[in-house]
Amino acid sequence: MKIKSYILKNDFLEVELLNLGAIIRKVEMKDKNGILRNMVLSYENIEDYRENSAYFGAIIGRTAGRIKKGLLNINGKKYQLDKNNGENNLHGGYNSLSHKFWNVKNISKNSISFEIFSKDLENFFPANVKIRVDYILDKNELLIKYFASADKLTYINLTNHSYFNLNGTKNLEKKIYNHSLTLKSDYMLFLDSNYIPKYVKSTGNTIFDFKNKKLLQNFFSEKDEQKKLVNNGLDHPFIIEKNKKFMKLESCESGIFLEMITDNPAVVIYTGNFLSDIDFENHSGICFETQEVPNLFYNKALKIYPSFVDENKNYERYTKFIFNLINYYEKNCMSDICFSL
Ligand code: BGC
Repeated sequence: MKIKSYILKNDFLEVELLNLGAIIRKVEMKDKNGILRNMVLSYENIEDYRENSAYFGAIIGRTAGRIKKGLLNINGKKYQLDKNNGENNLHGGYNSLSHKFWNVKNISKNSISFEIFSKDLENFFPANVKIRVDYILDKNELLIKYFASADKLTYINLTNHSYFNLNGTKNLEKKIYNHSLTLKSDYMLFLDSNYIPKYVKSTGNTIFDFKNKKLLQNFFSEKDEQKKLVNNGLDHPFIIEKNKKFMKLESCESGIFLEMITDNPAVVIYTGNFLSDIDFENHSGICFETQEVPNLFYNKALKIYPSFVDENKNYERYTKFIFNLINYYEKNCMSDICFSL
């Protein structure tokens, strides 16, 4: 099938989407000097998206993240999913939603819908499932709405896998080290040696405390076992507050900043720790994969319950990306951070 590209555009943002994987290929805006910057990692050759082993910009499903030994337990019944990441299932298995062609509906200048039907036992998941993802552009905001309905009990956990680099993906500094991150998260998940979420940990007094704005270069220069485990970086779920801006990523080089809001309980932050495998630089993008905690994780105290759906209960979620320009005369941005790098 032919990969087709669609553009949403207004005075502030231009977004390019693909019918393959409902992929975001471009989110472009003008930086502080009026130069257009594409803020997501992308392939120049559209055909490279067929392979896309790093999941650039794709919708991930039916289940984002890893499921231990690929064993999905639905109400006591076990389903053996693909083991496409060592012994585990990653991002729904081989040729999952990120690598399938979606049907395109309701295209306008500001919005587009992608639909896909995933039949019972496709990728070994139970239930016939109808999925729809809407992308809606409104001024400086890009909203992603996720819907899914199933004809029997199953588990769904969708996300988008865009790698952000607010310097733009050309010309300026390639790595994200001169970005600052503020993340409102008191709890995170530590991983076992196979990157499966193991236990909840308070972020306080760890290098993973981003409650006060932190320059990523400072994070990357710290020593820590969990950071080392994932090949020097972040690849961890953080618990966030729903329906509130939970993060702010800023680049004072371009003057662009990004905030996010979602009704998901968690975000997996991945700093592209293996991008050199595909001839990109490690740490040249950062993903904020809003989702459930992977691996059907339960935690009563934090009210974390996996998102099961059935014929009576649909899956419905949203994530909004909000882009802005920093007032770069602000003290913060004119500080040494910007000019010492
Ligand atoms: C995972 C990483 C994985 C990457 C693949 C991320 O969502 O958390 O562990 O390497 O996807 O591109």
